Amino acid sequence: MILIFIKFFHYLAIVFSGGVLVGGGLIQAVYTKANKIPDINIANILKILGYLGLFSLIILWITGILLSNIIYGGFTINSAFTLKIIFAGLLLGLSIFINLHVYSSNKKRLPPNKNILKISTMFSRFLIILILLCVAIAFN
Ligand code: HEM
Repeated sequence: MILIFIKFFHYLAIVFSGGVLVGGGLIQAVYTKANKIPDINIANILKILGYLGLFSLIILWITGILLSNIIYGGFTINSAFTLKIIFAGLLLGLSIFINLHVYSSNKKRLPPNKNILKISTMFSRFLIILILLCVAIAFN
C-alpha cells in the first residue's frame, strides 16, 4: 500500500515537472519571438512555475530515494539508472540555479536575464528527455 502511495507521488511529480517545463517554455518562446519582455503578471506566473518545478523535483528525489531503497535495496540497479540519477541531479541543480537567479533579479527589481532563462529552459528539456530515456532503458 505504501509503495503504491510513493509511486503515485513519483508519477504526479513527473506530470508537474513536465507541465512546468512545457508551459513555462511556451510562454517564454512566445515572448522571445515577439521580442517583448513579459509584463509583471506573466513574470509572476513564470516565477510560480519555477517554484512548482523545483518543488516537484524535490518530491521526485524524495519519492525516488524511497522507491530505490524499498524496491531495490539501494541505488545500484543498473547503469541506465545511475545515469538517470546523475541527470536528475543536474536538473535539480539547474532548477535551483534558475530559481535563485529569478529571485535575486526580482530583489534588484530587474528582469531576469533572457539568455540565462532561454539556455536553462532548453537544457532542462534536454535533461528531462534524457532522464525518461534512461528510465525506459533501466526498467524495460
Ligand atoms: C526528473 C526526475 C525523475 C523523473 C522524470 C523520473 C521518472 C520516472 C518514471 C517515468 C518512472 C517509471 C518507470 C517504470 O515504472 O517503468 C520512474 C521510476 C522510478 N524512479 Fe524515477 N524519476 C525521476 C527521479 C528519480 C530519482 C532522483 C530517483 C532516485 C533517487 C528515482 C527512482 C526511481 C525508481 C527506483 C523507480 C522504479 C520504481 C519501480 O521499480 O516501480 N527517480 N521514474
